[in-house]
Amino acid sequence: MSEDTVMQLPKVDPSEKSMDEIVALCKRRGFVYPASEIYGGINGFWDYGPLGALLKNNIRDHWWKRMVECPPIGPDGDPLQIVGLDSSIIQNPRTWEASGHVAGFNDPMSTCKQCKKLLRADHVLSMLHSAPWVTAVNETSPGTDGADNDTISAFAGSNRARKVAPGLVDALKENPSHVAIVANAAQRVAAGDQSETFVAACPHCGGELTEPRAFNLMFESHAGAIKDEANKVYLRPETAQGIFLNYKNVVDTMRVKVPFGVAQIGKAFRNEVTPRNFIFRSREFEQMEMEWFCHPDEAAKWYEFWKNERMDWWKSLGIDEANLRFRDHDDDELAHYSKMCVDVEYRYPFTGGNFGELEGIAHRGCFDLTQHQEHSGKDQSYFDQELQVRMQNEGKSKEEIKEASRYIPNVIEPASGLTRAVLVLLCEAFTPTPDRSGSKYVLSFKPKFAPIKAGIFPLVAKDGMPEVAQKLYYDLREKFTCEYDVKQSIGRRYARMDEIGTPYCFTIDGDTLTDQTVTVRERDTASQQRINISQVEAFLRENIG
Ligand code: GAP
Repeated sequence: MSEDTVMQLPKVDPSEKSMDEIVALCKRRGFVYPASEIYGGINGFWDYGPLGALLKNNIRDHWWKRMVECPPIGPDGDPLQIVGLDSSIIQNPRTWEASGHVAGFNDPMSTCKQCKKLLRADHVLSMLHSAPWVTAVNETSPGTDGADNDTISAFAGSNRARKVAPGLVDALKENPSHVAIVANAAQRVAAGDQSETFVAACPHCGGELTEPRAFNLMFESHAGAIKDEANKVYLRPETAQGIFLNYKNVVDTMRVKVPFGVAQIGKAFRNEVTPRNFIFRSREFEQMEMEWFCHPDEAAKWYEFWKNERMDWWKSLGIDEANLRFRDHDDDELAHYSKMCVDVEYRYPFTGGNFGELEGIAHRGCFDLTQHQEHSGKDQSYFDQELQVRMQNEGKSKEEIKEASRYIPNVIEPASGLTRAVLVLLCEAFTPTPDRSGSKYVLSFKPKFAPIKAGIFPLVAKDGMPEVAQKLYYDLREKFTCEYDVKQSIGRRYARMDEIGTPYCFTIDGDTLTDQTVTVRERDTASQQRINISQVEAFLRENIG
């Protein structure tokens, strides 16, 4: 590498990265577009552009490879048995009654009677902590634990109130008896109350909130010509249930024995009340889920196994360890099906230095198979022949063996979002480079996940250079995703490749025609070296991984 051009890419903490700049770069460079943009978009839906689709496919293929084609080595030294599946998005609606989603997949929602905003009731308290009117009210009564009714009334009549919280002034005029609720909310925030009990003051305007009502997150449709209750169906809110519905089919057709896994990647749909943070929480997204069916006595061991496996997998995407962590769920946060759950979390730019969910690893016990057995009337138990033989050899009684060798397996479920993984790789790779002459940003993806692995450029569009470059492109394109580009100055072409995260560019110049060498330019360091054109394929093989 020529030393004079080598520069190191700055390491930027995610909390210092700007989501606005990331979203803008994704749009400008063809990673993610707002869905239906020409009609003004549609909240919670995104389209993956040409480069976003390539990035997403690279992550998807890596997950599938590590889960299905080349699964992890188990504790006994043998590869685990995991098979793949691609089930239907729409299933018999009784599926969702059995799974608990019809009754339990709800967010508690309240509406503000004053400003009419719809709010997640369980988010109200945390929203109040950063609400401007609460801050202003508490500043009005310094030295106390918060505002009393008199402070609120005085505040509501002040110029400051009209400035920071005109909505609150209106709300209190409308309904003076609401003063006590507003004072209570301000007091609790001042006292640092973090409990998730319902607070009846709107964070936006201080208006009165309705009692929370359950709002089901499943999208509904109708199968067939008649739009009635009998034809109602749901778009799946998780890929997992398609796996449970096919567990017996897999046991009967695939010669698998407990413990084994079934993995699936596909779309899921949730009518999220507040889709937000770009593609972090959207209404249509993709999941990568694996259900690991095991003996109930071994579930705790497998839970630990999958927890570690999954963290290793996230690191294998090139994510800095410092930006990943585990977070155990508290008992009151567990989903209706879950006995234990741990999240893998990432430090997103929008979590202000804190972490947010990336994947959940849940111990689902025998909840799902038992529910489907009860609702369908079809036996979902597993006959464990190996256990039977082992017990026979141990001299156990016939009754004991009969009792123990047929059971409903427990399930450990690593459930991650593919589209959320795309977001994490974009956030992790995004590096502003104000000191570089060409590109304003570099997307420093681990080369394996970069949408385009190599740019192939003739220095100029003459003197036989395009022909040599094209031949190189044709030789490489079946093995690596490459781009041939002859337009614009070489500096601009490098800058574009930096911004889309292409790790290497190969430039054919005058010297190539005489000594068969090309320039290799490396994305992160902008350094250049010359190698023989015949070595390019081996170079990529060695460096892309
Ligand atoms: N089968 C279990 C299940 O679906 P979950 O925690 O609700 O569990 C698993 O979802 C993962 O799916 C999450 O960790 C997240 O990565 C992704 N996910 C869930 N809801 C999402 C949404 N609205 N938008 C994008 N990704 C989402």
